[in-house]
Amino acid sequence: MPTPLHEPTLAEDGVLRPTHLLVDRGRLADNLRAIARHVAPAKVMPVLKANAYGHGLVPVAQLYEEIGAPYLAVAYLEEGMRLRRAGIRTPILVLGGILGSQLPLFIEHDLTITASSVDKLEAIEEIAREAGRRARVHLKIDTGMERIGVHWYSADALLERALRCTHTHVEGIFSHFANSDAPDLTHARLQLERFEEVLETWARRGPPVLRHIANSGAVEALPESWLDLVRPGILAYGVHPSRDVPRQVPVRPALTWVSRVVYFKVVKPGNPVSYGSTWAPEELTRLVTVPVGYGDGYARRMSGRAEVVLHGRRYPVVGRICMDQVMVDIGWDSAYNADEVVLLGERDGSAVTAEELAEWAGTIPYEILTGINTRVPRVYVGEVGPERLP
Ligand SMILES: Cc1ncc(COP(=O)(O)O)c(C=O)c1O
Repeated sequence: MPTPLHEPTLAEDGVLRPTHLLVDRGRLADNLRAIARHVAPAKVMPVLKANAYGHGLVPVAQLYEEIGAPYLAVAYLEEGMRLRRAGIRTPILVLGGILGSQLPLFIEHDLTITASSVDKLEAIEEIAREAGRRARVHLKIDTGMERIGVHWYSADALLERALRCTHTHVEGIFSHFANSDAPDLTHARLQLERFEEVLETWARRGPPVLRHIANSGAVEALPESWLDLVRPGILAYGVHPSRDVPRQVPVRPALTWVSRVVYFKVVKPGNPVSYGSTWAPEELTRLVTVPVGYGDGYARRMSGRAEVVLHGRRYPVVGRICMDQVMVDIGWDSAYNADEVVLLGERDGSAVTAEELAEWAGTIPYEILTGINTRVPRVYVGEVGPERLP
């Protein structure tokens, strides 16, 4: 039984909800160390948005802080505020778009703001002046994603305005790749060229800044894009961003999603299983029921396709996935109440990967990881070790 580290409910693991996620802290730490070694002398700014890609925002931030991550990134103000309230002191960049009404909270919580237009930068400067504080910003340049940021071809006005700020410290300039995980890197290279032009313009007049653009795909496929900082998300969690990306960094998945058998029955041929009666066995068979469903993020779209691991073997999930339960066809094998069922991860030489779940659900591993919702308790296991990031 793993040693529970964080949640009080975990002490009753197996007594309360049998469905939980084991998060291997040792693997998370090793993954970030492997990325940091790979990109050195560039530094790493791991991305913890969407509950640290499902791994648990605060515990993962604590772990990254413990091993010396120089910077953390989240998507939203409230994620940054949660980290500050949990005592995280490491600098935190909030990557997403901002509203003027949020600015006092950014400053109060010492969160680094993404300044993505001249208007926004002016609003930041104004609020910082009123508060008698200094805001910290990274300027966002859109080099070909058309999401947030000023276009690279009209970035001069933003750079110009940034140079005149008195209450705003322009600490960084960044951009974001649209296709760094694609087989063809032409667009990514073009984005990098555009970004470099903007950086050159800045360098002619402004002080040194942190320059960053590389997400996981670029960490593995585009070394020339590493610059001062890289922003890996999914790779830090041990999953490569797509099949097309060369496997350059030795990372390992950190999640094992487990549950337990709570019911066993024999089903006669032709008797349909679950809502919609979409599946029935052709022969007498044994089914087990497992207490997990789409209400936990085990996607209903995987009905009729998903498999789980039980006793080191894979078995199919049959019939529709319900909100809180799934049925697994174990053929003529045996299983008993409380036997462990693995939904994601490895056990006894058999594994289900995030890539497989994504394929069954018709999506990408990102959506699988971030879709495991907060009803599923996270149990933190594994040793982090003393090694700090380079
Ligand atoms: C601005 C920004 N940087 C970095 C990342 C991390 O991306 P990935 O998980 O592909 O490394 C994201 C996530 O989409 C992002 O939006």
